[in-house]
Amino acid sequence: MHQNIQFNLPDQIAESVAPWNEWLETGRLRILADDRFRTAPVFGPLLPFWDQIPKCFIPGGEASKSLDVVQKIWSWLDAEATDRGHVLVIVGGGTITDLGGFVASTYKRGLPFVLIPTTIMGMIDAAIGGKNGINYAHFKNQIGLFQLPALTYIDDHFISSLDALERTNGWMELVKHSLIADAALWNDIADIDIHLPDAIEPWIQPAARIKKTIVAQDFLDQSVRKTLNYGHTLAHALEWKAQEDGIPLSHGVAVGWGMIWSNGWSGSLQPTESRSLFQVSQKIHGWLDGIPENNQRDWLSALNPRDVWPAILRDKKNRNGVVLDVVLDRVGNARWDHPLTLDKFSSIWKQVFQ
Ligand code: GLY
Repeated sequence: MHQNIQFNLPDQIAESVAPWNEWLETGRLRILADDRFRTAPVFGPLLPFWDQIPKCFIPGGEASKSLDVVQKIWSWLDAEATDRGHVLVIVGGGTITDLGGFVASTYKRGLPFVLIPTTIMGMIDAAIGGKNGINYAHFKNQIGLFQLPALTYIDDHFISSLDALERTNGWMELVKHSLIADAALWNDIADIDIHLPDAIEPWIQPAARIKKTIVAQDFLDQSVRKTLNYGHTLAHALEWKAQEDGIPLSHGVAVGWGMIWSNGWSGSLQPTESRSLFQVSQKIHGWLDGIPENNQRDWLSALNPRDVWPAILRDKKNRNGVVLDVVLDRVGNARWDHPLTLDKFSSIWKQVFQ
């Protein structure tokens, strides 16, 4: 599967140019956007036409990835007399693009859709690869499908509007891409102060390429694509537990902790790599400590790993009751479907978090 991605950057890697003008001239566009773009400017080719196109605004965040919100958007598409000749343009972070891709792919058996990610996480991960969906029964992304957008348009002007937490969230996914697939990229980014102006922008395109290359090899998530879940099994379990405990926990912070735990596990399997993986974890701690808000570190330290394990057992990657997760053989090289037991999970937890 080959995804059409267009960058605003000078050295474009656009494989083809979207027919924006044709869509605009024939009034075929519908826009689904994050609430904050009611008032904030939107960049890119839509800017001059923003006021003329029918729009639906939805608050960003996990709470919007629900069946109720999906129904609201389907009703709005109905009210706007939308058919399969229309294109739904989805503008927002990962939650909005996941949700919007699901709505578009299911309405009338599928409208073409365009993703304009406005967060780092969206630009390098969520908006690439055609995974879309919603949460169900308190677990993330339980209902969804694989459907590529007609186009992903990546405009890095949005990055300067992101706060420190959102920059860190996205950075964790970018770090993840380097650690699973590109040791040279990791060496280039390991010492970056992500809060300096323009520090992140140069790394968006290389990171988006990594994701695109992996997805092109394994669109349906049967093999190498699973490596993108490095750090995510624990992250999703922590997000579930945080929700149970009424603790606000952002995805990127959870992924950071998930990677730190995974590095401990990987080092126990590859003792010759344990030192360099420990150093990676120290860098990740450094970025997480740079978030001005309380990043819930005290809550994490007080948790019992046995209280997180039930959510790990629900992970979509597991097979026949066996937990299967991603390990790093070394920086830049990941292996998927490695079995994990509760005893191993708990002993690594104690080493890295307590
Ligand atoms: N975010 C993981 C994937 O797209 O496979």
